[in-house]
Amino acid sequence: MSWRSFPKIELHLHHEGAAPPAFIRGLAQEKSVNLAGVFAEDGSYAFRDFAHFLQVYEAATSVLKTPDDYARLTLAVLEQSAEQGVIYCESFLSPDFCGGRDLGAWREYLAAIREAAARAEAQMGITLRGIVTCIRHFGPDKARETALCAAETAGDWIVGFGMGGDETRGKQGDFAWAFDCAREAGLKLTTHAGEFGGPASVAQALDDLRVDRIGHGVRAIEDPALVDRLAATGTVLEVCPLSNIALGLYPQMRAHPVERLRAAGVRVTINTDDPPFFHTSMTREFDALERAFDWDEGVFDQLVHNALDAAFCDDATRGKLAKRLAGDADSA
Ligand code: ADE
Ligand code: ZN
Repeated sequence: MSWRSFPKIELHLHHEGAAPPAFIRGLAQEKSVNLAGVFAEDGSYAFRDFAHFLQVYEAATSVLKTPDDYARLTLAVLEQSAEQGVIYCESFLSPDFCGGRDLGAWREYLAAIREAAARAEAQMGITLRGIVTCIRHFGPDKARETALCAAETAGDWIVGFGMGGDETRGKQGDFAWAFDCAREAGLKLTTHAGEFGGPASVAQALDDLRVDRIGHGVRAIEDPALVDRLAATGTVLEVCPLSNIALGLYPQMRAHPVERLRAAGVRVTINTDDPPFFHTSMTREFDALERAFDWDEGVFDQLVHNALDAAFCDDATRGKLAKRLAGDADSA
């Protein structure tokens, strides 16, 4: 069977990384931007490895130049997710890309994104919340400016602060000021760790940034004591299985540690990361997991509820989502 119509919640989705390639190509044509090297012959995004992926990601993002571009992107992304049965998602938004970390410009981008998200919610029944994200390889100084944008716009829609980018550069603790600033503004926290960094990067995220969730975190499996710690503390991992396979962390789904983490009592959730880059969707993730691990509906139901519990939204929103998961049509 396909899991397409099964209601899903996604907590780890990069806004620009979810852009359909045809959308980016169309904008590039409108604006006469040369995107040589971004696409393969079949029209999909082309990259060799993680470092090259980050370069291609930023090249594709360079065509998104105005708040209206982000409004159009938001509609395209939410349409794509709603088609996969997603009823709620949190996406990573970067003031670095939306106005160069200028607070006034960021507010304009955010207003356009929120307005598009409200339209998508009315039309397609999908709810979006934002996680402001700094980019690790841009360095700690820029992360501070990004955190200030996050703090100024924290509320019922910007609900979290996070960090993506090249995990092989610097240490989690270099970004403690930015995470402290976001925490003081009431934001929940997540950071990419244990993807291209080893298990120590996951422990550092917990100890030095005091995050609420971990983006990926799968390489915790290499340290049994850390797996026990994650299980004991109920730390939620935003696992993105097909992203990890596309970027070469694991050769195939059966070798992916998600099942071992789950069996050890770690609270895992399933996510797509950058779906068109990795030829995935929430349905494809679920289908591939069922094939590899023979998971049944009870397992998928638990994983979706893990995501519901770990979502950074307010409790009124969580309550409405819980009713929709329970099949209450009036709560949409
Ligand atoms: N930015 C977009 N996708 C990412 C990933 N998988 N890891 C780190 N940074 C990212
Ligand atoms: Zn990611």
